[in-house]
Amino acid sequence: MSNLDQKINQIKRDLEQQLLKTKDLKILDALRIYFLGKKGLITALMSELKNLSPEKKRQLGPSLNILKKETEEKIQKTKEKIIQEQTKATSLKKVNFDVTAYKTDTLKGNTHVYTKFIEEIENIFLSIGFDPYDGPEVESDYYNFTSLNVPQNHPARDMYDTFWLNKPSPTDSTKATTAEKLPTSLKLRRTSRPTSKKNLLLRTHTSPVQMRIMENNKPPISAFVIGRAFRHEATDATHDFTFMQCEGLLIDKNVTLSNLFAVSKKILQTMFQKKELDIRIRPGFFPFVEPGVEIDMRCPFCSGGCSVCKKTTWLEVFPGGLVHPNVLKFGGIDPEKYSGFAFGFGLTRLAMLKYGINDIRLFHSGKLKFLEQF
Ligand code: DAH
Repeated sequence: MSNLDQKINQIKRDLEQQLLKTKDLKILDALRIYFLGKKGLITALMSELKNLSPEKKRQLGPSLNILKKETEEKIQKTKEKIIQEQTKATSLKKVNFDVTAYKTDTLKGNTHVYTKFIEEIENIFLSIGFDPYDGPEVESDYYNFTSLNVPQNHPARDMYDTFWLNKPSPTDSTKATTAEKLPTSLKLRRTSRPTSKKNLLLRTHTSPVQMRIMENNKPPISAFVIGRAFRHEATDATHDFTFMQCEGLLIDKNVTLSNLFAVSKKILQTMFQKKELDIRIRPGFFPFVEPGVEIDMRCPFCSGGCSVCKKTTWLEVFPGGLVHPNVLKFGGIDPEKYSGFAFGFGLTRLAMLKYGINDIRLFHSGKLKFLEQF
């Protein structure tokens, strides 16, 4: 066997071996170049023919041509086989696609505990015929204090650690300026509208909205407000400088304290889903009500005293009272004709009680572990 014959046989064997292993089109193409390319093995052999005698050329020329042709065919066949196998594999993958096999780690959001509780309270108020109102968070001295029967230098102002947005002028108006009165298109929810530029503060309670409601409506009025209030004080587990309050107001002819007690009881019963819920009344002082009361409810978590009620079995929940005649006058309502009750409870505090939250700072902490519980 000539040297060239041996080389031809070697190439055939190598090609067979390589093609058997190849499952990838890119590798197959590399093989094609290796055997048939310009600098490939077969091309090199063909150029060797030139140096042979005419007789040898006649003998080996056809074998080399056959080798080239066969190699081309084999590579083409392997290519078709690989494509076929790949198509089959992808269609098999589609058929056997298992929807449960792999789950990406999706982050799912949920409602904030405040939103959840607010919706609950809104539903309670709506179900007993109270309309929702909103007022600005940036308030004026007039609405936050003066019109609520807390004039300049009144000691009751000390109850409210106030965030002043500018230095309060010593002569605060005893009347709302037009600019202050402007943002009174009520029944607009949760928007913060600017008031006059004078004596601005972050409202220390939601009670100023009472005044805006009275100014804009004629009795009978039954309204509620849910919103943020701000106090300039150090934070700890039970105090935060921002918290939510809820205010209720009802004005009509012959409204008495018993109406206030009945409504508060109904609200607490629904909120804590307890039909048998005792309430008790104590006197309390708030300049905007006369008489003022503190409504306590029997602790819903125990029967004989626990850490939530500090072993007293009572929880302080609703401050309120009958709207002070001066406040009615400020609101343009005749106290000789009408009377009303008002109350304002700490929505944050009740949410803490209801959901067993022991640190008020968690509400705004953004901690997922906390938020995911609700
Ligand atoms: N605004 C009061 C506060 O934040 C709570 C309050 C007490 C509101 C009595 C009222 C009320 O409407 O009548 O401390």
